[in-house]
Amino acid sequence: MRIGIAGAGYVGLSTGVAFASMGHDVTVVDIDRAKIDRLAAGHAPFYEPELDELLSRALQKRTIRFTDRLAQTAREVDLVFIAVGTPAKEDGEADLSALWAVAGALGRSGAAPKTAVIKSTVPVGTGDLVEERLRSLSRAPWRVVSNPEFLREGSALRDFFHPDRIIVGASPPEAAAGLRQLYSGIDAPFLVMPRRAAEMVKYASNAFLAAKISFINQIGDLCERTGVDVTQVSLAMGLDARIGEAFLRAGLGWGGSCFPKDTAALIRQFEQQGIEPSILRAVSDVNRSRRRRFLELARSCLGGFRSARIALWGASFKPGTDDLREAPSLEIIERLLQEGAEVRVCDPAAGEKIAAAFDVETAADPLAAADGADAVLLATEWDLFLQVDLAELKARMRRPLLIDGRNAFDPGRVRRHGIAYAALGRPGP
Ligand code: UDX
Repeated sequence: MRIGIAGAGYVGLSTGVAFASMGHDVTVVDIDRAKIDRLAAGHAPFYEPELDELLSRALQKRTIRFTDRLAQTAREVDLVFIAVGTPAKEDGEADLSALWAVAGALGRSGAAPKTAVIKSTVPVGTGDLVEERLRSLSRAPWRVVSNPEFLREGSALRDFFHPDRIIVGASPPEAAAGLRQLYSGIDAPFLVMPRRAAEMVKYASNAFLAAKISFINQIGDLCERTGVDVTQVSLAMGLDARIGEAFLRAGLGWGGSCFPKDTAALIRQFEQQGIEPSILRAVSDVNRSRRRRFLELARSCLGGFRSARIALWGASFKPGTDDLREAPSLEIIERLLQEGAEVRVCDPAAGEKIAAAFDVETAADPLAAADGADAVLLATEWDLFLQVDLAELKARMRRPLLIDGRNAFDPGRVRRHGIAYAALGRPGP
């Protein structure tokens, strides 16, 4: 099929490259000319496993092209995906300005009536409004379908080809036919439901996962006080098939480009409907409190940060990405610096971005970061840190202390090496 994708960001580009590698004819559109030129030359603007190879193969086979001409693309394709960003505004509400710009351009494009597929995460009911706008601008019976994405950074392409489910919100259901054909090579349950239900599924899924993390984090607070190790509780809870082990790792909590903005946008939707989102507020508050509690723990272990030498291991919001959006490390670095610590950061992907944003040293090697340090603070559980030689770590540090923000280390092993250990949700040092 011939498809257009508006938005060459994380979701649009990963989706476009994936469809192209399935043999569909894909045109990716973006308003950023420089980005388009770099993509046409085979350079992706962010790192994602497999993306570079699949992009260069699709360019060679000419199954993908890049342009800034949305109206022309709309006239040439069978389906247009909308995959532009919907960031949070000050009050948490999703900012739909990019989506409206695309809808306006599609409506005025003169393209024969087609199907627009919304991949961007949008408040429930947005599909109805976009359909109205397209129909009023074009005076043609455009259809709008919702097809939320569940791609995780660091495994976006794997998630695309092996999804748990494909959700299509189509009212009427016949509007899902094009998507059924498009995804026919992918083996996964294909659920067609009313458009608003599909929009809700995306928010509810992300909020549920965020809630699972905040839940175990709150249990972790009680564990810490009562001498219980939260990781043992997670393990045992996760073996209950009704609960499941995923997203039960206690620690610094969630960040990234999706959970924070989607939780905030969902809270706004509740407020707009006059329903108190008590669970979601607690989910969000518990998550915010992680960073504060982690700093308190470190402060109490060190007796204050003034003149302390701190090695911060990990900065990206999770391993496998250089994405710093809403990463707990940002707040941690800021507070450490404000309170007079000397900070050296090691992150295998986000080091350069950190060096540009803060007055800190960076080190490529975790041991070099820990040289002469009073404490190592683990903020992101990259494998690189978990493989560090602990005897060597102890020898390098001025004061051997590891504060584990992700419950990623075995406390017994760390302590056996003569390194003091503290973590959120585990009995004290
Ligand atoms: C998420 C959703 O998983 C994806 O379906 C959606 O489309 C986009 O948002 P992503 O932002 O890439 O994907 O991150 P994810 O891997 O889900 O992790 C989210 C955050 O939760 C990370 O900050 C991670 O460190 C944290 N996390 C995850 C925990 O603190 N504990 C856990 O047990 C799991």
